Amino acid sequence: KTIDVTDSLENLKDVCDIENGRIAGKIFYDQAIYEQELEKIFARCWLFVAHESQIPNTGDYVTTTMGEDEVIVIRQKDGGIKVFLNACPHRGNKVCFAESGTTRGFICNYHGWSFNVQGNLVGQHESGIYEASDFDKAKWGLKEVAQVDSWKGLVFATFDPQAPTLQEYLGPMTWYLDALFDNQEGGTEFVGGCIRSTYDCNWKIAAENFVGDILHAGWTHDSAARAMLGGSVAKVSDFEESYSVNWNGHGYEFALDTVGNVAVLGESALNKYLHTIKPSVAERLGEFRSNMIGAVSSCTIFPNFSFLAGQNTVRVWQPRGPNKIELFTWVVVNKSAPQEIKEKWRKGAMMTFSPTGVFEMDDGENWEYCTKTAKGRVTAAQDLYIGLGMNSRASDTSLPGNVFKGQLNEANARAYYQQWFDHLNAKSWKELPNRNFGKQEAE
Ligand code: FES
Ligand code: FE
Repeated sequence: KTIDVTDSLENLKDVCDIENGRIAGKIFYDQAIYEQELEKIFARCWLFVAHESQIPNTGDYVTTTMGEDEVIVIRQKDGGIKVFLNACPHRGNKVCFAESGTTRGFICNYHGWSFNVQGNLVGQHESGIYEASDFDKAKWGLKEVAQVDSWKGLVFATFDPQAPTLQEYLGPMTWYLDALFDNQEGGTEFVGGCIRSTYDCNWKIAAENFVGDILHAGWTHDSAARAMLGGSVAKVSDFEESYSVNWNGHGYEFALDTVGNVAVLGESALNKYLHTIKPSVAERLGEFRSNMIGAVSSCTIFPNFSFLAGQNTVRVWQPRGPNKIELFTWVVVNKSAPQEIKEKWRKGAMMTFSPTGVFEMDDGENWEYCTKTAKGRVTAAQDLYIGLGMNSRASDTSLPGNVFKGQLNEANARAYYQQWFDHLNAKSWKELPNRNFGKQEAE
């Protein structure tokens, strides 16, 4: 079969037959597809921008990006959170260069426009000449992002005023997110800073790895685990009961094996902590989810927010072109956990999933080559297999979302790419097909 890889979206229909377990490498190395992604996915979907714990007080802010758009996330006097474009409305210069801080406002380096915490333009160098030009200050504040909302401390924003609410967007996935983000009174917080690193890979490869690819761990990570962590992870997915669950492209895969993950990593203090809190988790969230804490699991909220519950690493795969990402990584802990447990989690995440972490180096190399090979015109058109667990839908379950049996399953990857494909082919949220037919809602 021949494929004209110069034409972008039309040919996607030929190169992606996701329902039948087939995609093409072209989607990982194509500038035209990438431009469409920025417009139809990153300017449309809810994107993770901060954890509430990073900005507790008025004027606290972090800077991040939504797609390639730079933004400032800042706490307001009334306790709310606003997100602004980090670009001056005069000539577009960046107004905040720090990654985080506390401020009473921002002053642009170029012509001295200054903005308060609410984003209003409050002054300019040579303000008199603006007055002479009938300049209306009220119209030239920092541009505000259309919608901002939080779920259990996780702050998301979307540029699209037509987007569904965050609650609708996350749907039944919130039931599973609670197992990490709300298993104790007081919720969670981020500890330490944000680690930023770059990889020469397509953003979808990384997001897909976390949406449900435990399969790679036993093979890719085994030697590093033996050498650095004192134990094999070859059988990391060998649990009696495990699931892959998805909804609108979000995916969570997990085993029902409390602390299986940290047990593998030999973190006995963490292991003990998780066992200590387990009864209270069962009381709070029920028996089922008390077995999810610390277990071998991973999750991606479409399009690019991911976490691992056992390692407590939280990350965003920031797109920087079709073949490059900037990875933002944080460590999340229960606010109520003892200080030494928080510190163990921070160090554990550094050892495993940081730029020098043993597992991240393994992953980075694989992801870069999955991307680079697609640079070849012929290779880009090659069929790639994503058909594992095609008939593994669990019909006998009351769990929320689209539930599939087992973690060694590409059901979540298929759902992820289907959502991606649907967004690229839809002109707005209204056109997006609903593929979650008759599914259970979260409680
Ligand atoms: Fe910001 Fe001119 S670009 S003041
Ligand atoms: Fe990995």
